[in-house]
Amino acid sequence: MAFVRIQHLTKRYGQHRAVLNDFSLDVAANEFVGVMGPSGAGKSTLLNIIATLTKPTSGTVHVGDQPVTQWGDAKSAAFRRTQLGLIVQTFNLIPELTVADNLALPLTMLPPRPKDLAERVAQVADQFGLEPLLTQYPHQLSGGQQQRVAAARAIITRPRLILADEPTGSLDSHAATTFLQHLDWLHRRAQTTILMVTHDAFTASFCDRIVFIKDGQFFAEVTRHGDREAFFERIIDMAATIGGGRRQDATFNQD
Ligand SMILES: Nc1ncnc2c1ncn2[C@@H]1O[C@H](COP(=O)(O)OP(=O)(O)OP(=O)(O)O)[C@@H](O)[C@H]1O
Ligand SMILES: [Mg+2]
Repeated sequence: MAFVRIQHLTKRYGQHRAVLNDFSLDVAANEFVGVMGPSGAGKSTLLNIIATLTKPTSGTVHVGDQPVTQWGDAKSAAFRRTQLGLIVQTFNLIPELTVADNLALPLTMLPPRPKDLAERVAQVADQFGLEPLLTQYPHQLSGGQQQRVAAARAIITRPRLILADEPTGSLDSHAATTFLQHLDWLHRRAQTTILMVTHDAFTASFCDRIVFIKDGQFFAEVTRHGDREAFFERIIDMAATIGGGRRQDATFNQD
């Protein structure tokens, strides 16, 4: 059964050619799907439409049985707040709040406010190695540290669906591996469905399946069977076939 059902999605800005062109995809409950493709292929647009941040020109997205693309602003905002973990290319941390308060923010916006808020902040801070930074402000953090805060904040509500747009883009290989192991844990143990855009084959190798998009259309998919290194090699091959992407670092880094 599909948990995320994307049907005939088309997105056009003004009179320009379609950024997404009749794109369809089913993502199963608890599946971890990677989205790859050249710059400008429509990956972020796709994620933003599923996240109800952008409206499609035509086509629909269902999450569970909910027609999220049909909703107005209030319902969309409630969906994002209560059901979605969103990790975007810009981190959107609140500059006036400490790391601890940035982490707690999604919980403080939930009615009712959870009683174990402090424990949950401590838990995600521990998972992402953020304890020493809890009293700092975003401008005092490196890009990689801000990305970890944004990732921790996205999962603190224990969402059923995580949408991540290049979540490892500013992490070093150790931090990226830790983060990816955490996503892997979420999807194995916490029944979380994950869609992750990435340019990086090592990052992608943590997924169950990679969907390649080119010019707003489905191009190919690669499904993992067996070990991660073999999957990585197949992802590299497909990325080379599709072309136009950033240069791949073709070494499998176990870290
Ligand atoms: N608000 C907008 N108005 C007009 N065109 C837009 C807008 N947002 C995106 N586009 C165009 O849509 C196309 C797809 O953009 P998108 O951000 O989805 O690509 P992407 O696959 O995420 O690329 P990247 O890998 O560089 O992040 C691009 O050509 C972009 O210029
Ligand atoms: Mg993008």
